[in-house]
Amino acid sequence: MIWGCRPDRRLLAAATSLGAVDMRLCLTGRLPGLSFGVAAVPPECPARRRRRPELVVAWPSVEGGGWGGAMMTNPGPRHVPVLRDEVVDHLVHGRANRDPLRILDLTLGLGGHAEALLEAAPAGSVLLGLDRDRAALDLARVRLAPFGEAVTTVQSPFSNLAAALAAQGWSTVDAVVADLGVSSLQLDEPGRGFSFRFDAPLDMRMDPDGGGETAAELIERLDEAELADILHDLGEERAARRIARTIKNAAHSPATTGELRALVARHVRGRPGHDPATRTFQALRIAVNQELEEIAGMLAALPGILAPRARLAVLAWHSLEDRIVKTVFRNWCATCVCPPQWPMCRCRGVPRATRLTRGAVRPTEGEVGRNPRARSARLRVVEWCGGG
Ligand SMILES: C[S@@+](CC[C@H](N)C(=O)[O-])C[C@H]1O[C@@H](n2cnc3c(N)ncnc32)[C@H](O)[C@@H]1O
Repeated sequence: MIWGCRPDRRLLAAATSLGAVDMRLCLTGRLPGLSFGVAAVPPECPARRRRRPELVVAWPSVEGGGWGGAMMTNPGPRHVPVLRDEVVDHLVHGRANRDPLRILDLTLGLGGHAEALLEAAPAGSVLLGLDRDRAALDLARVRLAPFGEAVTTVQSPFSNLAAALAAQGWSTVDAVVADLGVSSLQLDEPGRGFSFRFDAPLDMRMDPDGGGETAAELIERLDEAELADILHDLGEERAARRIARTIKNAAHSPATTGELRALVARHVRGRPGHDPATRTFQALRIAVNQELEEIAGMLAALPGILAPRARLAVLAWHSLEDRIVKTVFRNWCATCVCPPQWPMCRCRGVPRATRLTRGAVRPTEGEVGRNPRARSARLRVVEWCGGG
């Protein structure tokens, strides 16, 4: 199956960064007006384990000096985003009219939600996709290539949202999706250091180009009490103090996922089906990427850009994320937001948003059966009434 076919040097760069292309193994050929190469994915390539591209077709880029390319996947399962139909129903099908939409995907990832939204959206709709992870954007661009000019992708954290929108010339949006947290790409890429399943440098940065602190550097910088607070507050780890003490008293600070996991395993048994290091890894990942601050900042910025009747869908993956979303949505939907000590209402009791989901929508058993990672997802959707 061909993911994309526009000559684009970045496609090949993406494939190369996955280890998917060894140009020495390339077969090259010529058709009228087109030179091309076909490269097999070497067996040791992590992309192959993830059932990602097996073949890459490349041709010299039209500008010269580089290669364009198209990735071909094996016929394995295509990445299906979590609660895809529910997100599309709320953001597209549930709307009263069929006017073209300006869609903002704040967490493009592998482009699954973006693709589903664009397929369902009225003709003329356009999508701006943000992600702080360049590797994700490279793959999403390939997937979304069939939508051509309707899609713009930008490498940006939520905290640069205003600048990204201004660069696009957009002042408001009609539909927003934010699927928080890490992507399967990040979790399954051994070299990124997000997962204890692979021994790798302890990195965990969603944007390794951004130059921020890695998880190894963070652990080294923090003292024992600060580290314990992070494990407790961001990982909800009950053994936080003991783990922090062990890490800080170790002969050397952990530099790899394997070293960290071994230190944690001295104190935590883990529940059946849960690795003892799960909570520690979650806490460090959230801290390294300042995920909760990013979410709070993004939600604070949205009232300034949501058009009247705009819909916002947020998928949270753990209770810390969901708590922030729930609190902000509750405030937006409240009929009175005056401080309780005021004797009478001065805000005139007009809610800024309406809830479209009762509580949080969870994936069905069927979806969890097909994709066990979906089990912790919770979706909340609101419709903006107006007022910045
Ligand atoms: C769960 S994945 C999204 C998957 C996507 N919905 C799909 O269908 O493939 C979350 C993505 O959000 C990105 N992300 C997380 N926090 C971010 C932030 N603060 N700013 C920008 N991107 C962020 C991650 O890099 C990751 O690629």
